[in-house]
Amino acid sequence: MARELRLGVNIDHVATVRNARGGRLPDPVRAAKLAEDAGADGITAHLREDRRHISDADIDALMAELTVPLNLEMAATEEMQAIALRHRPHAVCIVPERREERTTEGGLEVAKDENRLAHFIAPLREAGSRVSIFIAADRPQIEAAHRIGAQVIELHTGAYCDAHAEGRFDDRDRELARLTEMASFADSLGLEVHAGHGLTYGDVTPIAALPQVKELNIGHFLIGEAIFVGLEASIREMRRIMDAARG
Ligand code: PXP
Repeated sequence: MARELRLGVNIDHVATVRNARGGRLPDPVRAAKLAEDAGADGITAHLREDRRHISDADIDALMAELTVPLNLEMAATEEMQAIALRHRPHAVCIVPERREERTTEGGLEVAKDENRLAHFIAPLREAGSRVSIFIAADRPQIEAAHRIGAQVIELHTGAYCDAHAEGRFDDRDRELARLTEMASFADSLGLEVHAGHGLTYGDVTPIAALPQVKELNIGHFLIGEAIFVGLEASIREMRRIMDAARG
C-alpha cells in the first residue's frame, strides 16, 4: 500500500564521490537498490546539464534496475526533455539550474516563464510522467505552476533548513509558517505537495508533520550520515522520524 508520506532518496552524491576519482565506484545504482531495501518509496536523481554527478548511463541503469519509481530532476531544456521522453520515468521534477551554483539554490521562476514551461511540460505529461515543479513557497509561483498544468509542486525547504542550522530561529519559524501556509494553499488548488532540500534528522519533523505533504526528497544529509552509520541505517532513521512526525 502506498504510504501517506513517501520518502524519495536522492542518490546524486554517491555519484559525486564516484566522480571525484573517475571510474565506477561507489555505484549510485547499488545505493539506490539498498535505499529501496531500507524503505525508500522512490529514488530521485538529478541529471545536471554539466553531468557533475549523475550520468546518462546512471539514468539508463536506474530505469532498468529499480523496482520503486524514479523521480528524474532536470532543467527545462530541450536536451533534458528528449531524455525524459525517451525514458518516461514515473516522475519528472523541473528545477532551475545555473552552472556556477553548488546545488539548486532557489525555486523555479514559473511565473516569469509560464508560456514556455506550459509547452515544455505538456509532452512529458502526455508521455505518462507525473510533472513536478520545484518552487519557493510563494503564492504567485504556486498559482503559475497550477496554471501551466503541473500535477505536483515541490516546496524548496532550503531557507528553512539554513535558518535552523544557523540558529536563526525567528527566520526558521517564519519560513516554516510560510511553508505551512503555502502547502495548504497548493493543496486547495488540487496540487500534490512535496518538499525537499537540505532536510536533516534535526529539522525534518515539522515538515513531515504537514498533512498536505505527500513526499519528501532527501539526499545530501542521508549520504553524508551514511559515512558514519551506513546508508541503510541512515535511511531507516529518517523514515522513523518521518513516521513519528506523522503519527
Ligand atoms: N529536491 C530537489 C528538487 C532538489 O533539487 C534536491 C537537491 O538535488 C533535493 C530535493 C534534495 O536536497 P538535499 O540533497 O539537500 O537533501
